[in-house]
Amino acid sequence: MEQTLTFNPRPEQFSRVTDAVHKAKNIMVITGAGISAESGLQTFRGEGGWWRSRNPEELATLKAFKADPKFVWEWYEYRREMTAKAEPNAAHRTLSWLESKGKRVFILTQNVDDLHERAGSHEIVHIHGSIWHVTCMKDGTTSEDRRVPLPQLPPVCTCGGILRPAIVWFDEGLPSTDVSRINKYLEGFKIDIVLVIGTYVTFEYIRDWALRAKESGALLIEINPDETTLSPYADISLRGKAGEVLASVQTHLYSL
Ligand code: OAD
Repeated sequence: MEQTLTFNPRPEQFSRVTDAVHKAKNIMVITGAGISAESGLQTFRGEGGWWRSRNPEELATLKAFKADPKFVWEWYEYRREMTAKAEPNAAHRTLSWLESKGKRVFILTQNVDDLHERAGSHEIVHIHGSIWHVTCMKDGTTSEDRRVPLPQLPPVCTCGGILRPAIVWFDEGLPSTDVSRINKYLEGFKIDIVLVIGTYVTFEYIRDWALRAKESGALLIEINPDETTLSPYADISLRGKAGEVLASVQTHLYSL
């Protein structure tokens, strides 16, 4: 079946992006659910997104988990199944390809899937946690758990405590070690480009990190089919699906 392409950039805008990516040594990438949409994973706020039909208060808070861990786990179990079946798409692969070409590609993702890792990227901060990690509510230890399906819901730790998804919920703070890692990167290195891909940028801290990179001299490029809260600050907005846009960027760079 023929694929309908959504990406039809203005040539001068596209060549400004490919020139900048070609010359860049250090690229900060901020990703959200939209980068994994072409891999078949649902977004949160867009068409067909989770929060269009579900209440985040009932699924993504510690309060909800404490009230009904099985109910919350059923949602994560479904998402674990979907994530296990999903494959990285051209957008994830282009980012890892850029890294293989010797560029530093620092990925700050809000996604809990592991598609950046599976595409071969190495420097990744999962600021909202990982769907493949669990934390014991009793002894506080976090470990990897890739079992799909889990043997029981909620799953239990060897110490007998209930395990929770190691995900940052709406009523929780960000992991301080990850925040320090991002701050250290922003303070310590000259960033040439900040690429913001597939996120509506709901959270102020995400916007602040992108704007800090821009204020320190980075070109702010947004890749998203639609406007976002960051669009007014973007130097260039490429309107299209992440996989299509980044595949075009990679094809162009190949030919140089
Ligand atoms: P959202 O669902 O808020 O936004 C997804 C964005 O992706 C939208 O701007 C879409 O236009 C865009 N999009 C859709 N398809 C795309 C495609 N093929 N290529 C590129 N972009 C596409 O998701 P996030 O911004 O990631 O947090 O949401 C941030 C956080 O809110 C999530 O990490 C999650 C959620 O509640 C927690 O659960 C704590």
